Amino acid sequence: MTAVTDPSRRLRYIAVGCSRRLVTERVRALSDGVWDPRSDAFRSDPWTAYDELRERCPVAFSDALQWSLFRHEDVMRVLHDPLTFSNQVSSHRAVPNGMDPPEHTEYRRLIEPFFAPERVAAFEPVCRAIAARLWRAAALPEMDFAVAFARPFAALCQCAFLGWEEETADRLLQWVDRQHEAIFRQDRRALSDLAQELHETIQQILRRRREMGDSAPDDATTRLLQARVGGRAVSDEELVSILRNWTAGEVGTLSAAVSILANFLAVHPEVQRRLREDPSTIEAASDEILRIHGPLLANRRITRRAVDIGGTHIPAGQIVTLIWVAANRDPRAFEQPLEFRLDRDPAQNLVYGAGIHACPGAPLARLELRVALEEVLGGSAWIEPVPDRPAVFASFPSTGFSSLPLRIQPERAAAGRGGRV
Ligand code: HEM
Repeated sequence: MTAVTDPSRRLRYIAVGCSRRLVTERVRALSDGVWDPRSDAFRSDPWTAYDELRERCPVAFSDALQWSLFRHEDVMRVLHDPLTFSNQVSSHRAVPNGMDPPEHTEYRRLIEPFFAPERVAAFEPVCRAIAARLWRAAALPEMDFAVAFARPFAALCQCAFLGWEEETADRLLQWVDRQHEAIFRQDRRALSDLAQELHETIQQILRRRREMGDSAPDDATTRLLQARVGGRAVSDEELVSILRNWTAGEVGTLSAAVSILANFLAVHPEVQRRLREDPSTIEAASDEILRIHGPLLANRRITRRAVDIGGTHIPAGQIVTLIWVAANRDPRAFEQPLEFRLDRDPAQNLVYGAGIHACPGAPLARLELRVALEEVLGGSAWIEPVPDRPAVFASFPSTGFSSLPLRIQPERAAAGRGGRV
C-alpha cells in the first residue's frame, strides 16, 4: 500500500508500490514508475505502452493525468461509486459531465431524448449522404484516410446533427487541434482563450437561431433552445456547455474511432472479409474493435474522501483519471484481450463508459460508425495498408491516427477478395 501526503515525495512512493515484473524497455524508459503520456514511449504504440503500465503499476501518477487507474476492476469501482468519486473536477460548469446527482440526474433527463432511437434513425440518411460524398471525393487508389475521410466525416456529422452550417465543421476541427496542442503543452492560458473562443462561436449560433423566431428549422439546436430543466428555461451558459460537449468534445473521439476501425479492417483481412460477407455484424464488430483500440484515452473524477484502490492510498481531493484504453484490454476482465471476438459480454466493454455517466450519445456514435463502415466497404472491393507509408499515431491527448494511408481497390475489382457489402 502506498500512502501519499507530500507531493514532492509522491513519485518515489509510487515507484515503491509498482511491480517490477513485465517491465519492457519501452516502459523502463519511463524511469521508476514516473510516467508521462506525452513521452516518445507512448507515441510509437500507445495501446501497448498502456498495457505494460497496467501490468507494472495499476495506479500511477503523472503531471499530465495525476492519479491514473488502468485496471478494469478499479475503473468499474469508480464508475459505480459517484459519491466517493465525484465528477465536479473543475470550477467551470460542465453539463452534464461535470455534475453529480441529484443535479446530474435532472440534466440527463433533458439530454437523453435527443439520442432516442427515432431521432437517431431520422439522422441516418443525412449521415449516409455525408459519408458517400466524402468517399466519392477521396483520391483513389491511395488516400490518407484520417485526413480525407475520418476527420471531415466526424465534424460534418456533428454539425449536421445540430443543424449547423457546414463551414462550422472546419472551424471545429481547427479548434480541436489547437486545444489538443494546448493540452499537450499544458498551456492554461491558451486553453482559457480557446474556451472563450468556442463560447463566442456557439453563442453566435444561438443568437442567430433566436433571431429566426418561428422560421427556425425543427432541429436539435432549436429543440435545445426550447428545452426546460427544473421548470425553467436552460440558461445560455448551460446551452453552450451542452453544445460544446456534443461538438468539440466529441469530434476528436469520433474521428479517432473512424480511423481506428478502418485501420483494423485493413490490417486484419479476415475481419474485413467477415464484415463484407455479413454487414449485420458491423455494429457489434465496431464495439469490439474499439475495445481493443480505444478512441478515448481518459476521463476524470475527484476523490470526495480518502480511498484505498488498486493497492494505493489516495487522499481526499485528488484527481483520478480512468484510463479506458488500458481497462478495456485488461486480461483479468477479457480472456485473450487482444483477440477480436463477437461473443464477449457487452456489459464489460467500457468504450462508452458505464454507470450514471455512461455515454448518452452512444446510439448516435454507433449509427455514425456503422454508416461510415458500410459506405467504405460498400464503395470498395478491398482496403489495405500502403507498403512503405506507415500509419502515424496521433500524440497525446489525441488518439487514433494523425495519418492513415490506405490503398483502396475499387468496387469492380471485387472478384476473389471479400465481395462487397
Ligand atoms: C466513438 C464515439 C464516442 C465515444 C467512444 C464516447 C465515449 C464516452 C465515454 C467513455 C463517456 C463516459 C465518460 C465518464 O464516465 O466520465 C462518455 C460520456 C458522454 N458522452 Fe460520449 N462518446 C462518444 C460519442 C459521443 C457523442 C457523439 C455524443 C453526443 C453528441 C456524446 C456525448 C457524451 C456526453 C454528453 C457524455 C457525458 C455524460 C454524463 O456525464 O452523464 N458522446 N462518452
